[in-house]
Amino acid sequence: MKFNSIIVLFSALFSEVLSLNILGVFPYQGKSHFFVFAPYLKEIARRGHNLTVISYFPLKEPVDNYHDISLAGKTKILEDVFPIYRSYWSIIQISFFLTNSGQENCITLLDDENVQNLWKTKQKFDLVLVELFNSDCALGLAHKLGAPVVGLTSHVLMPWHYEDYGIHYNPSYVPVLFLEGGTKPTLYQRIERSIFHLYFVYLHKLTCRRNNQKTLAQYFDDLPPLDDLAKNVNMLLLYTNYVLSGPGLYPPNVREVRGYHVTKPKELPQGLKKFIEESEHGVIYISFGSMLRATSTPRDKLEAIIDAVSEIPQRIIWKWEEKTLPGNPKNIFISNWLPQNEILAHPKVLAFYSHCGMLGTTEAIHYGVPIIAMPVFGDQPSNAAAVEESGLGVQIQIKELTKETLLEKLRIVLNPEFRKRAKELSKVWHDRPQSPMDTAIYWTEYAARTANYTFRTPANSVPLYQYRMWDIMAVILTILFIIFYSIKTVISLVQKRREERFYEFKTK
Ligand SMILES: *[C@@H]1O[C@H](CO)[C@@H](O)[C@H](O)[C@H]1NC(C)=O
Ligand SMILES: *[C@@H]1O[C@H](CO)[C@@H](O)[C@H](O)[C@H]1NC(C)=O
Repeated sequence: MKFNSIIVLFSALFSEVLSLNILGVFPYQGKSHFFVFAPYLKEIARRGHNLTVISYFPLKEPVDNYHDISLAGKTKILEDVFPIYRSYWSIIQISFFLTNSGQENCITLLDDENVQNLWKTKQKFDLVLVELFNSDCALGLAHKLGAPVVGLTSHVLMPWHYEDYGIHYNPSYVPVLFLEGGTKPTLYQRIERSIFHLYFVYLHKLTCRRNNQKTLAQYFDDLPPLDDLAKNVNMLLLYTNYVLSGPGLYPPNVREVRGYHVTKPKELPQGLKKFIEESEHGVIYISFGSMLRATSTPRDKLEAIIDAVSEIPQRIIWKWEEKTLPGNPKNIFISNWLPQNEILAHPKVLAFYSHCGMLGTTEAIHYGVPIIAMPVFGDQPSNAAAVEESGLGVQIQIKELTKETLLEKLRIVLNPEFRKRAKELSKVWHDRPQSPMDTAIYWTEYAARTANYTFRTPANSVPLYQYRMWDIMAVILTILFIIFYSIKTVISLVQKRREERFYEFKTK
């Protein structure tokens, strides 16, 4: 009896220490982004923290300790909206989309009554999780609530994050997520990157961040500049991992956690399972994600894909929004919804023809399935470059896509040697001291425990002229100039003196 009550007391104390009151703010309506975060959020609740989540994606089935503040219905959910097409113009369109949606998301977030209640009723949170994508607006809310902040991404760093976190941006080896090219870019790619990097940074700061600041000012007095709040994020959980994305140089408050969204595969639906298991030569899985309309694929490109895959002995599973494909090829299973994680987990699935979104690429390396990477928009070009550099797959750009080029790429990834290397890479991917989920949870709780300390690098708070050492160079150049000028003056004086003497001598 006594012993029992001690346990009860002890566990009550323990849970009080460990259980945090956490707010998650997900102001962006992209489905593929939230799909990354969902398992992490559920895990936080499962571990006994009290979690309140503001998002467009309320739970379908209740989870203990998980409370929704739903924004659903306030904005159109982004899905199947981008055509399969890429150019400089489409990148510029993305930039406008980011700044416009970043501002709209901010307005919708702060306008919501349940969100307003958080600060009006002075709710106390130990931690605020904030998706840091198109907008920094939620950092203002977190500041108002007085809680430490954990930033979350479902992608690599956005261009402005480099300055926010004091990470050196160098186009010689750091990709810009919207552009092709990995860690060994050509001169052309480096110029392209430099221009787009600056463009995205200043567009974000001068439009989205500035507008967000004004919107926040309508609700909160004396809010510090978002530029400063962005530099003060306690911890950023970055959805990358060096095995695939390539090694990056990050300060201690930026942690790589890529992989936590991949859950244990469930049972495949019967029809699909049969289709895969009865394939004599294995299966190739084709999907261009939830944001792209496969049906808007240009006709010639579509025919190139169908012609190429009809020539190989493998069966094909294709995520396709229509009921039929032109020509009704018989070795192809089409469906507008497919359990991607379960398909990629099946050992008979030999290759993945993908647009290289973050979700699919991560699942592919998780199971060691080689990728044919055909990037379209967003972070896909840099993901695809990383896939190729890591050895997980090969790239094919849309403009190069023909039946012959695709067959060539298929031959490469279906080669047993190539597949063996992909499996090896997958082993390296899994070789970590902690699972990605445990890592993400650890650094989340750590941010709450160490809220009174900051581990950001001082690099993000020194003024630019000091960071670039322009002042040091100016001083050194001035000194060199003075020395040089003095020596020159002395020499010319001496020379003049000599000439005068010579002249005096001659005239004597
Ligand atoms: C848990 O979160 C809910 C919803 O935000 C809130 O009403 C409740 O007071 C919180 N519980 C604790 C113990 O903080
Ligand atoms: C931070 O410092 C304040 C004031 O000293 C203290 O009340 C609080 O418990 C500390 N927070 C943490 C997480 O240690």
